[in-house]
Amino acid sequence: MNVTRLCDQTWSALLDERDGKPSQWPAFADVAAGELYRPLARRTGRPMVIAQVGQSLDGRVATLNGDARDLSGRDGFNHLHRIRALVDAVVVGVGCVLADDPRLTVRNVSGPNPVRVAIDPNGRIPLGLKLLNDQSRTIIVQADDIAPRHDVETITLSRNAAGLLEPADILASLVARDLTSILIEGGATTIEHFLCHGLLDRLHVCISPIIVGSGLPGLSLPPIKALSQALRPRVTTYNLGSDILFDCDFRAGATPGLNAVAASGVAAE
Ligand SMILES: NC(=O)c1ccc[n+]([C@@H]2O[C@H](COP(=O)([O-])OP(=O)(O)OC[C@H]3O[C@@H](n4cnc5c(N)ncnc54)[C@H](OP(=O)(O)O)[C@@H]3O)[C@@H](O)[C@H]2O)c1
Repeated sequence: MNVTRLCDQTWSALLDERDGKPSQWPAFADVAAGELYRPLARRTGRPMVIAQVGQSLDGRVATLNGDARDLSGRDGFNHLHRIRALVDAVVVGVGCVLADDPRLTVRNVSGPNPVRVAIDPNGRIPLGLKLLNDQSRTIIVQADDIAPRHDVETITLSRNAAGLLEPADILASLVARDLTSILIEGGATTIEHFLCHGLLDRLHVCISPIIVGSGLPGLSLPPIKALSQALRPRVTTYNLGSDILFDCDFRAGATPGLNAVAASGVAAE
């Protein structure tokens, strides 16, 4: 199990790498920190999509009434804020926005705020929420069959036969705006859409040592008949301190089951 210590010099080198500045990777830098964060900091010319989910030992991401605020431990939150600082954009679903009223900014570490993107096909995000009321850039993705909103930058997309916005169309719209490194932060429904369509390069599952008992589940995908069809990405584990991180790499060799899941798509909500 890897342990990630991040000194200031290593973090500065990662931010320089993110910005395409010549950087000196510290000789003493923790190897695990490099393995974990350098793939997120590098800009390779092709889009990089990572999803992160913070869950309990019993696989819950929030209580039944949607409280997810302190689910991850301090080091889990620091990790999430590091990812936010390294990517160009952070994407959430409207369920997360309505439940948490998140800011999605970088506060626990130094670094730039990502562009905040909320998928809100039906225009449910009201005025007054934090995303619409601070200086950081926010984009709302909505369906083209509802009244356009004028209080925020929007992307309008048509719905597919299931009534959903195609995750690939969402990504293409972001890439067209030069947002090529993207964190899908949740909730689980939003992550599932990207995972089912085979669009995730990485998935970070950050496990906090608490048992919620009952609550909103983590990822749910279309049913499979046999475990041979299960997704088996290459996984590296990291001991973050308060939380254990499973870094799932879907691009390292073949991922059994991914094609089958992608072909089955995701059920309409
Ligand atoms: N532990 C964690 O890591 C974590 C992280 C984030 C959130 N949370 C918790 O998770 C809960 C919310 O999660 P959730 O799964 O219910 O909701 P969610 O994923 O935040 O939002 C789902 C909604 O977003 C819209 N949406 C997302 N992708 C879409 C697509 N491709 N096409 C069309 N619409 C799309 C739909 O809106 P419509 O319903 O309008 O169609 C959908 O119902 C909250 O309680 C929050 O606190 C936990």
